Amino acid sequence: MLAAENAALKGAKVGGMADVLRDLAPALQPHGVAVDMIMPDYGFLAREQQAAFVCDFVVPFDSGHYPLKLYRLANPLQPEVWIYLLAHEMFVAPGHAIYTQDSPGRPFASDASKFALFCTAVATLLCSGLIALPDRLHLHDWHCGFFAMLRAFEPAYTQLQQIPTILSIHNLAMQGIRPLEGDISSLRAWFPGMANLSHKRLAAALDPRYPDCVNPLRAAINLCDAVHLVSPGYAEEVLQPSRPEEGFFGGEGLELDLQRIRREGKLFGILNGCDYSAPAPTISRQQIRDQLKDLAYLALLSKLGYSEFVQPSEIIAQIRLSQKGLPQGFLLTSVGRLTDQKMLLLRQPWQGGLVLDAILQRLAAWNENARFWLLGSGDASLAREFSEVAARHDNFLFINGYHEQLSEALYYSGDLFLMPSSFEPCGISQMLALKAGQPCLVHGVGGLKDTVADGHNGFVFHGRDLEQQSAALLQTLERALTLFGTPHWQTLVKAASASRFDWHASAAEYVDKLYSSVN
Ligand code: GLC
Repeated sequence: MLAAENAALKGAKVGGMADVLRDLAPALQPHGVAVDMIMPDYGFLAREQQAAFVCDFVVPFDSGHYPLKLYRLANPLQPEVWIYLLAHEMFVAPGHAIYTQDSPGRPFASDASKFALFCTAVATLLCSGLIALPDRLHLHDWHCGFFAMLRAFEPAYTQLQQIPTILSIHNLAMQGIRPLEGDISSLRAWFPGMANLSHKRLAAALDPRYPDCVNPLRAAINLCDAVHLVSPGYAEEVLQPSRPEEGFFGGEGLELDLQRIRREGKLFGILNGCDYSAPAPTISRQQIRDQLKDLAYLALLSKLGYSEFVQPSEIIAQIRLSQKGLPQGFLLTSVGRLTDQKMLLLRQPWQGGLVLDAILQRLAAWNENARFWLLGSGDASLAREFSEVAARHDNFLFINGYHEQLSEALYYSGDLFLMPSSFEPCGISQMLALKAGQPCLVHGVGGLKDTVADGHNGFVFHGRDLEQQSAALLQTLERALTLFGTPHWQTLVKAASASRFDWHASAAEYVDKLYSSVN
């Protein structure tokens, strides 16, 4: 498998894709599939993991010859298979970052070159025999899209065409689009074999909206032998064009390609799983709540160390907020990346404030001890907006950061977990909250509607546009609050903890449907 992230290695995670890469390989093993992984080293993984040096090799790229190093280590979760790490200075970014934030006008500019080199290096390794050719190749997200192009178009790599190749899409909104030529480096310069290919030959890899741009995700969709989306619900939604003004995020310009792939029987929606092997904490929910405040402090303090974007005054304001005291009564929780995908609805205008203000007002009106704790890091403007909301409401604690133990404590001690995502390819947080016995309040999209059933293990809201969705969220919260404390709530909690999204069941589908479709 080729991927940009893998949570089996410390520091190699940004989003949920990393968890999938960590869990999927061991889950496939009982089905007779041994998965080697290959990813960039990002300047620290090989060293921190004490990976063994394998060899130096040279990659023809961008009109030159790039020297790279190959390392490998046994997968920490599955010692009989390898994780290969590729090292080159282009993969290194400040602060051990995996992705580079470019200026807003040039999205993906650095990352596109980085992953173009990564894909060329993998193709070189496979074709030179330094890594044995596998039975199948499995690519993840746009970062691997250039590999599909090299396999299809570069004469030097045609032997890769013998290997059935599959694409998994974790997020269709990220496509890695870059200008075809004229940029500092461009496709024609990166890949010499594509220098003279006509627009017509390259058509499958170009962006449908910007024909002078290459779209690596689209290339992978069109050039792989099968395409997988990470939930059946999302696999349906992506067939429809997105209508952002109505709050619907579907095919993101690639719906016609995906419709064709589906007609050809090559589109699969298989739900991600969740890991149930670790035992639940042995201490009570109340004891976990007692720890929340300390953990919140730790999370805020650790932020002092790593964020250059946050002003000290913001941190002081947040610490003051955490002195608002431990949640005594109802606790609404949310853990998620601060992106529009996850948080757009919370920042919608609502009666002179935001939907988030309205949630907090309703909670306060319902019970003075009710609280909302939200943990997340990401977009700086969202963080600023949420900090401002926190300054207006005593019942809201917003922790702008990521802290493993605190997120775990929030899963295990909250009463209701909120996930209002505008779209959600699969979603892991709702699965973790359910596992911890916390009913979820979710927007009925993608993987959320595949994992939460209204009145069974949580509450699901729908709406035809952003305004209706906002209203539905608030009404559904109201409905949940009236049930809290009744015997029905206990059945919800039981159903939540009994919900199972087993990786072994998903792995069986990968083998029986996805992998066997490309025989
Ligand atoms: C992305 C999606 C998320 C999904 C994860 C793993 O992060 O946004 O919904 O669960 O990938 O597939």
